[in-house]
Amino acid sequence: MDHFLLSLLVTLSVSLGKYASKAADDGSFDQNYYVAWGSNHFTLLDQGKTAQLLVDPSSGAGFSSKQEYGSGYFGMRMKIPNKSSKGLITTFYLTSKPVNQPTANYHDEIDFEFLGNNTMPYTIHTNVYAKDNGGREQEFHLWFDPTQDFHNYEILWNQHQIAFFVDQVPIRVFKNKTNVNFPSHSMHIEASLWNAKDWQGDVNWSEGPFTALYQSFRINGCPYQSSNPQQCYSSKLPWNGKKKWQLNRAQQAKLEEVRKKYMFYDYCYQRGQNYPECSS
Ligand SMILES: *[C@@H]1O[C@H](CO)[C@@H](O)[C@H](O)[C@H]1NC(C)=O
Ligand SMILES: *[C@@H]1O[C@H](CO)[C@@H](O)[C@H](O)[C@H]1NC(C)=O
Ligand SMILES: *[C@@H]1O[C@H](CO)[C@@H](O)[C@H](O)[C@H]1NC(C)=O
Ligand SMILES: *[C@@H]1O[C@H](CO)[C@@H](O)[C@H](O)[C@H]1NC(C)=O
Repeated sequence: MDHFLLSLLVTLSVSLGKYASKAADDGSFDQNYYVAWGSNHFTLLDQGKTAQLLVDPSSGAGFSSKQEYGSGYFGMRMKIPNKSSKGLITTFYLTSKPVNQPTANYHDEIDFEFLGNNTMPYTIHTNVYAKDNGGREQEFHLWFDPTQDFHNYEILWNQHQIAFFVDQVPIRVFKNKTNVNFPSHSMHIEASLWNAKDWQGDVNWSEGPFTALYQSFRINGCPYQSSNPQQCYSSKLPWNGKKKWQLNRAQQAKLEEVRKKYMFYDYCYQRGQNYPECSS
């Protein structure tokens, strides 16, 4: 066989092999998630590997994990609407609030939210609720355009810390220290694209259609069992091991760099209150 053809075949089969194992790792949507609302604005593409949410004046859409979790390292690959999406919010978050119930006080939640914007730098908004109404926002400008490619957004949650990562770069850490109000309920995953005009102003619908894409439906989490909540604290779970109690040195340096360069809002400094988690 011609050498060129052979190497082409080898390259092809290697990349196909990689592709196949990656796809298997990514999990299936139906196994782990269901469409929670706006099902006529939800489409599975790409043999089920990509979920598309659409928002128009009639509705947005959202999906939710089937399970509740007690700890984990949760991730999603996302591509946010590539149109001028002022007024729209694209989310990936953990919450203890039952699906489609009004936002209650006294619930736990860990949020990634994209506030629609049509210009660089794009904004990512994070928040933590712990048996309360939240109010622990930190906001960052992203160092890339999240509308052009898929990027990886991850939440590590164990008894010691909650850490937010963007493409493996830590952007925020919320530590469980003495007197810190730390999330303690079981939570499930939700993702959504919705019209937040009351918060973010009117949407210009003639810019649409507005779609967000999601991938990677495998869930690295500890399914919560009310009969044995302690099980999700086991140090045998990979996200609970001692190495995941705090960032390593390289990650800590990255975090500090991100905070300095990209964080533009931090509740720790802007509410004139003393939050125990804010003191270092
Ligand atoms: C914007 O997104 C839509 C829907 O996902 C896609 O069809 C279109 O090609 C995208 N346009 C650009 C410029 O990326
Ligand atoms: C949109 O981008 C502008 C310019 O960076 C910024 O001032 C504004 O706060 C952003 N709005 C949102 C909702 O992110
Ligand atoms: C916070 O840390 C304390 C001390 O390690 C631990 O007892 C408690 O369970 C943790 N809280 C949560 C909600 O994980
Ligand atoms: C809404 O979008 C359309 C299409 O891009 C544009 O022509 C129009 O000026 C926009 N309207 C406003 C109020 O920005």
